[in-house]
Amino acid sequence: MIETGDNGRLWLLSGRSSSYALHLTDRDELLHLHWGPRITAAAAEALAREPLPPHWPFESRLDGREEYPVEGGPRFVRPALSVRTGQERGTAWDFTGSEIAGDELRLGFTDPVNGLAIVLHHRMRDAFDIVERWTTASHQGAAGEVELLRADAATWTLPERDGWRLSQLHGRWAAESRLVRGDLTPGEKVLGSRRGHTGHQHLPWVALDAEGAATEESGEVYGCALAWSGSWRIVVQHLPDGRVQINGGAGYDDSGLVLLGPGEAYTSPVFAGLWSAQGFGGASREWHAWQLAHVVPRAAEPRPVLYNSWEATLFDISEEQQRTLAHRAADLGVELFVVDDGWFGARTHDAAGLGDWTPNPARFPDGLKPLADEVHGLGMRFGIWVEPEMVNPDSELYRAHPDWVQFQPGRERTEFRNQLVLNLARRDVRDHLWQRLDTLLSSAPVDYVKWDFNRCFTEAGWPGEPYPQRLWTEHVHAFYALLDRLRAAHPHVAFESCSGGGGRVDLGVLSRTDQVWASDNTDPLDRLAIQYGFSQLHPARVMAAWVTDSPNTQLNGRVSSLRFRFVSAMAGVLGVGGDLTRWSPAERAEARDWVALYKEIRPVVQLGAQYRLRAPEGGLSAVQYTRGDDSVVLVWLQAQHHGEPPPAVRLRGLDPAASYACRETGAVHSGAVLLHRGLVTGLRGDLDAQVFRLRKE
Ligand code: GLA
Repeated sequence: MIETGDNGRLWLLSGRSSSYALHLTDRDELLHLHWGPRITAAAAEALAREPLPPHWPFESRLDGREEYPVEGGPRFVRPALSVRTGQERGTAWDFTGSEIAGDELRLGFTDPVNGLAIVLHHRMRDAFDIVERWTTASHQGAAGEVELLRADAATWTLPERDGWRLSQLHGRWAAESRLVRGDLTPGEKVLGSRRGHTGHQHLPWVALDAEGAATEESGEVYGCALAWSGSWRIVVQHLPDGRVQINGGAGYDDSGLVLLGPGEAYTSPVFAGLWSAQGFGGASREWHAWQLAHVVPRAAEPRPVLYNSWEATLFDISEEQQRTLAHRAADLGVELFVVDDGWFGARTHDAAGLGDWTPNPARFPDGLKPLADEVHGLGMRFGIWVEPEMVNPDSELYRAHPDWVQFQPGRERTEFRNQLVLNLARRDVRDHLWQRLDTLLSSAPVDYVKWDFNRCFTEAGWPGEPYPQRLWTEHVHAFYALLDRLRAAHPHVAFESCSGGGGRVDLGVLSRTDQVWASDNTDPLDRLAIQYGFSQLHPARVMAAWVTDSPNTQLNGRVSSLRFRFVSAMAGVLGVGGDLTRWSPAERAEARDWVALYKEIRPVVQLGAQYRLRAPEGGLSAVQYTRGDDSVVLVWLQAQHHGEPPPAVRLRGLDPAASYACRETGAVHSGAVLLHRGLVTGLRGDLDAQVFRLRKE
């Protein structure tokens, strides 16, 4: 809901339980007024009438108060917008008008000197507490060029508090999305990626709680997350007077995003923000519900259990071997069989074939269709792996088009994993990829595509292009456009975003993929911390997780039970990734039972409200999912010490006055007891785990 006041110079957006207010002063300064609990328009108008506090000559009266601070004029904060025209930098605005279109507010401004027009977009849906913000910039002058050195999506302004604590999700390959919290000190905290993709190093998300007072289930939490899959930056600024602002947008450095000629426009990605009074858990549930309702395509459809042999076979695959695995997988109850890397071109190892998206004739003599048909005959869907944005120099594609990659003349073409990045900003490259992928999806009955991206940008040059740095944003737009076009042409195909694990997980990619691969680390214990971090922002519905072999083959040789591996992977979209030809009949029988159990709890896990009951750093960790009268509790014990029984796990989200029957124990528990004393799990030893199903009576 959007209300206006002060003769059309005040705007109040309200969602389910929060409000967001802006005010335009009579000098056309757009000030942030309020972001927090719901307030009335009258209360917002009273705030707008309060004069700005006095300021000293060395400070700006606007810093920390503006909705979208630009470079230029009396400002010293980090600008959201930095513009260069000829020899000049900076911009100054006149308000041109507001427009309300449903739940979206658009505020327009122009710079009378350089002709740049800016529209600030804010959207708040009635049923949610998420504010979506983005910015469009267009050149409305008759001549000349305007360079956007930086054009952030938004700047978020927090209220004054005695101090703030920052939560972030950091990582690296095989160790993504691990949560860290620490006091925010004066200065600027910069998170981001200058790698061309979202990166394993940080998820584009931060959360702030005042005075470090929020807990998992109580207290005030602000969060913001960027919907962008290229290089990005979020800067959390703790200003000299203690105020906090958070800028975020595409690009890491302020070295030039786009050059606008007359009539041209740039649209930033969305930077979404949230205020919650329900602690970190409440904030996460709000993010999850909003993504399921408004971001992730077809989110109401639960994802199938998949099988993928990558860890078991690596590049050593053949049609016959995949058939054998498909039969084994179908026997476990798997619903989607995926052929990973190695099915195409000369791709028998990672140094050749990437870019040649036709089946390897020695491995799949009649193409993929016979295997796909067999998989379908077994009652499963059929999926394949691709990495369309990349090429091995040892490939037909590169031999034909060595100039199609990002490169700088005279400089080395740095290879990572023996591959180079195609320049998707080029139309001929985009057209080629569309044609190849469309043909591929038409040539065999493919239901699912795992879309990988296995290296960062290095010499991101574009010889002959007058403004080559536009390649950074245009690559992402081209990737999005390709996915959108493929989805439209092949609507039954589901897509997974993968980038060496969780290197491309963000709200932008999630708005056009069905799930993401959170990490190449399938060790079930390490995964608990990765999944705990992932759940801060994203729902279980999009988090693929596989049960692989023990001892763990990829990383650490850790030995763990099938039970522990399954319960760990059941916290997301369950998959199986072990070498099923080596699983014993007893293991396969046990796995069949786990898959059947997962299918039963799947709607609650994938679509329910998630409560993180205990964090993974302790000996005992637990997650609960609740949907309607059903609750599912997953519990993991890392190691028992001194013979002490692990503590009871206090549940959440139950009705204290109701009774709950537990399917695993047959016991009926009082809701109040489960909430207050907790559920006694009976776990023991090392790496033990259990699933509890509870239903309200
Ligand atoms: C990446 C992915 C893996 C696998 C390999 C194949 O590393 O993260 O899951 O698909 O590529 O080369």
